Amino acid sequence: MMNPRYKILFEPVKIGPVTAKNRFYQVPHAMGSGNDMPNTRAAQRGIKAEGGWSVVNTGYCSIHPSSDDRPLPFARLWSDKDIDSHVPMVDAVHEHDALAGIEFFHGGAYTANRHTRMPPISPSGIQEKVSELVDMHLTAPKVMDKRDIKNLIQWHLDATERAIQAGFDIIYCYAGMGFLPYHFLHPTFNNRSDEYGGSLENRSRLMRELITEMRAVAGDKAAIAVRLSTDELLSFKSESSESEAHEFFELNGELPDLWDIKLSKWSKECPSSRFSEPGHMEPYNGFVKQLTSKPVVGVGWFTSPDNMVSQINRGILDFVGSARASIADPFLPNKILEGNEDDIRECIGCNICASCYNQGIPVRCTQNPSMGEEWRRGWHPERIKSKSSDNSILVIGGGPAGLEATLSLARRGYSVAIADSEKELGGRINKESMLPGMSSYKRVTDYRVSQINQLDNVDIYLGNTLNPDDVLELGFDHVVTATGSSWQPSIMDEKTAPVAITKTNSIFTPDDILKGCELKSPVLIFDFDYYYMGGLMAEYIKDLGHEVTIITPFEKVSPWSFNSNEVTEIKLRLLEKDIKVITEHRIIEIEESSVKINHQVSNKQKDIARGSLVLVGNRKQNDSLYNSLNSNQEALKESGIKSLQNIGDSNAPGAVVHAVYAGHLYANTFDQEDDNSSDEFKLEYPVIESF
Ligand SMILES: Cc1cc2nc3c(=O)[nH]c(=O)nc-3n(C[C@H](O)[C@H](O)[C@H](O)COP(=O)(O)O)c2cc1C
Ligand code: SF4
Repeated sequence: MMNPRYKILFEPVKIGPVTAKNRFYQVPHAMGSGNDMPNTRAAQRGIKAEGGWSVVNTGYCSIHPSSDDRPLPFARLWSDKDIDSHVPMVDAVHEHDALAGIEFFHGGAYTANRHTRMPPISPSGIQEKVSELVDMHLTAPKVMDKRDIKNLIQWHLDATERAIQAGFDIIYCYAGMGFLPYHFLHPTFNNRSDEYGGSLENRSRLMRELITEMRAVAGDKAAIAVRLSTDELLSFKSESSESEAHEFFELNGELPDLWDIKLSKWSKECPSSRFSEPGHMEPYNGFVKQLTSKPVVGVGWFTSPDNMVSQINRGILDFVGSARASIADPFLPNKILEGNEDDIRECIGCNICASCYNQGIPVRCTQNPSMGEEWRRGWHPERIKSKSSDNSILVIGGGPAGLEATLSLARRGYSVAIADSEKELGGRINKESMLPGMSSYKRVTDYRVSQINQLDNVDIYLGNTLNPDDVLELGFDHVVTATGSSWQPSIMDEKTAPVAITKTNSIFTPDDILKGCELKSPVLIFDFDYYYMGGLMAEYIKDLGHEVTIITPFEKVSPWSFNSNEVTEIKLRLLEKDIKVITEHRIIEIEESSVKINHQVSNKQKDIARGSLVLVGNRKQNDSLYNSLNSNQEALKESGIKSLQNIGDSNAPGAVVHAVYAGHLYANTFDQEDDNSSDEFKLEYPVIESF
């Protein structure tokens, strides 16, 4: 039964001509499955509606070829031919009594139009200078004349008609980030001298015209919503109000049917948990409800129902907006409704989902391995097919892969035993979640252990290191090893390959640090891993009171973390903690009290004094148990073991997301007739028109 404290979350809210059945609102977020993957998109969004979200939106949907965001897989509504690809999603959402929303997008100066080859357009021809290669493009935007503005409005109206034809209930005008309607509002990017420039009233004229005219087209068939970035407007002085953001709402607050508030920078509004807290958006959305009678949606990495209730009760928001929590647990609303909030698969804030989008691939999730596989593999976040036999399975290793395999196998009804040499389940998570800002990663373990503990078909054996003979004697039908990986003491050669070096009592890997080895200042870290470990080691060791220098062959520390919206925050954190950073160098010689480093381009060399040296480069599979068992097929057969598989880091060391997925995949496929590697990769194929 639902906790009465959460009742307020299930009140219906009117949005113009439509009504949302509760306050759980999946804000627009892309899934990396654009128009070319309509079935994938429909299955993903439909499951969220099934899980209780009252509003399920598309991601950003381009309304015209002059807003072409290739190579990213954006949604599109450029012509009538694009309508059909949206219909499956709308139908899937409606099937569960939820509202389907669509976020219109015109990127203006931001979009490079790489495919359509049209010049980008903008209010005043001003291009935002970006620092990441993927965002750079060589065409400065054209200054829009009056005809261009008229056209822009018409494109929104054409798209509104198409959206209504597709069946959408909420249609967004998107004035966020560096996109076109936002640039009209922004005094830095709009220095026009006509009625669309100058005063805020003039700069918001385009928004007023868009909202009013879209509303006229939509009539009572759909609500008109606006997604707006407020942070920069809040920092601009206004002559008539507290800030330009306040003035904007005083001028326009009653125009749309709903306001959805976000920030102007992707990495700020979707920061990883390492650098943010739930509710971090309140300074930017907390003032809006005082200036409008229309419902207000806001985000802020809400994963707990208490945080959500607090936002509503304190009059901050009308709808709890969510992207990531709805990805990690599409059934979050229903779990709260049914009084099962302890079963929520809480988002860990790792931003792997965001990283997928940034890389132009379908979104996947660390916590929810079914994300993106709903249509392709038929996976569901809450349901799994029943067992196909009464066989028993031994899972060796209690890290993310082993835990996910155990939970999913047990949910299928199999009798499962999980064994780990440590005294606690969790594997790498137990150690990594102790590092600065990483505590929410513990949710990967906590969720799975708490779910496993509710099942009576799982036996847990801790604190025992199994050898091959033990495994052969235990009498299980199937065995899967998920024994993790170990950081290697290695540096990098000129071909960028890792080279093993001999460890001494002053050379360590992250595994040693996490076990609490003794360090001597100054500590040097050589980091040629792409992801978070190097920066985390630097922070952790600095917090222990050591002088720390991090050396990396790359131009930035943790360069891959650009994808997870973390790279700039990592840089800032290292600066704040006074950690010295040496980029574009690799270690070529290690002496007892120094290292020689070589510049990657100039080959200039220098010596750096050291106490301890920490090497963060590559991990190697802990696969000796698997290899030993696998090398004796005869013994496996004799002991009645029908299958042996190796999964997760002990098979291919990766991020936590890969391990969880490997566990889920194993649980779904180990009993298939076919070897999983011969699976057809199910794709959506476009209809080929005749030439
Ligand atoms: C994978 C992913 C894709 C996103 N795509 C969009 C998008 O297409 N349009 C948009 O307005 N915001 C997008 N966002 C931002 C979210 O709507 C949201 O504002 C942000 O993630 C913060 O909310 P959260 O803390 O609930 O995740 C995206 C977020 C994620 C994680
Ligand atoms: S990938 Fe990480 S941040 Fe994204 S929804 Fe899943 S757990 Fe949350």
